[in-house]
Amino acid sequence: MKVLIADKFQANGIEALKSAGCEVVFEPYLSADSIADAMQQHQPAILIVRSTKVSAKAIAAAELLNLIVRAGAGYDTIDIAAASRKGIYVANCPGKNSVAVAELVWGLILACDRRIPDQTLDLRNQAWNKKEYSKARGLYGRTLGIVGTGRIGMEVAHRGQAFGMNVVAWSRSLSQEKAGELGVGYCADLMELASASDVISVNVAANSDTKHLIDESFVKAMKPGAFFINTSRGSVVDQAALERGIDEKGIRAGLDVFANEPGSGDKEFGESIVGLPGVYGTHHVGASTEQAQSAIAEEAVRVIIQFIENGNVENCVNIATSTPANYLLTVRHLNLPGVLAHVFQVIGDAKINVEEMQNVIYDGAEAACAKIQLGNELSNDDIEKMKTNSNVLSLELNRL
Ligand code: 3PG
Repeated sequence: MKVLIADKFQANGIEALKSAGCEVVFEPYLSADSIADAMQQHQPAILIVRSTKVSAKAIAAAELLNLIVRAGAGYDTIDIAAASRKGIYVANCPGKNSVAVAELVWGLILACDRRIPDQTLDLRNQAWNKKEYSKARGLYGRTLGIVGTGRIGMEVAHRGQAFGMNVVAWSRSLSQEKAGELGVGYCADLMELASASDVISVNVAANSDTKHLIDESFVKAMKPGAFFINTSRGSVVDQAALERGIDEKGIRAGLDVFANEPGSGDKEFGESIVGLPGVYGTHHVGASTEQAQSAIAEEAVRVIIQFIENGNVENCVNIATSTPANYLLTVRHLNLPGVLAHVFQVIGDAKINVEEMQNVIYDGAEAACAKIQLGNELSNDDIEKMKTNSNVLSLELNRL
């Protein structure tokens, strides 16, 4: 199978794909603009990508494409709806870079408190200023608010506890009981977390539910001078509201992601927020450690090899969680040619749609059982028609 790798990818991953018999095209410097041409030219069956945007146009250009693997966690840069419309699987590699992202969160928290980048800059400019930089607040005993208690959020939380901080958290699915199990304090809503925290770390996935989750009212509820860290996605934060908070309330921010950040590679980047005093910015590099990228490459290769060997896609993010199926038809039958064709002929003649199906065979391969999920109910006449096939052993229709 031909695999196009459109971003940086560890050499061990490339070698593993080749050893598995894949033809690998490695073009690590593709951009949102050039990826469609590369898809057209190489016609890959599988695309591996990091932050490079994959548009509907790029997806449409690869006629043989059947799997996109996001070598990372967030897949907001891939047009998932376009992939789903064409029956193309999209999978990611969740959890493999959580520690790396949490480590950067802590770098940013410490930068906010000790102003390490400002101090370094002054020293590079031959200025000694102990008086100015002796004003850090310290973290011990202060409250760390975690927004999002997934893998990254919890890695940040554990490190906060090691710093002696009081860790509280909020997420959509968090309850008092669950917070207790995770060993963190419970905030019933975001406003409670905003007003209680000295340091806030945002660790949620970007989607339509989390767009501007951190909005004007959240910033208004924050303590003056609090530290705000975002390593998730720029879209989660109303950047203009945060800028006002930095300006008016002395909030300090550690930001690895921005509203209009470019994809991979070198570009001019002139967002006003990055130039503000008290803002410590990095280049969306939370996941960019050798350890994390090796683990990501290993996982991406594992997903691809599983797919090649048995057609299953692990970590698939675009399989429907609910389908329009309303009925389940269970057909036990002899494992012979034509029996399922007969069943499907009756379903098709009744103008009923098959939503999902599975056929398993029993030891000895003499009999099988098909489970067919249908949009609408079959009539008794249709069931009787199916039974006329002597290779059908039994039929059952149930409402789902
Ligand atoms: C992720 O979603 O996995 C991280 O944000 C890393 O993104 P990157 O692979 O573009 O560095």
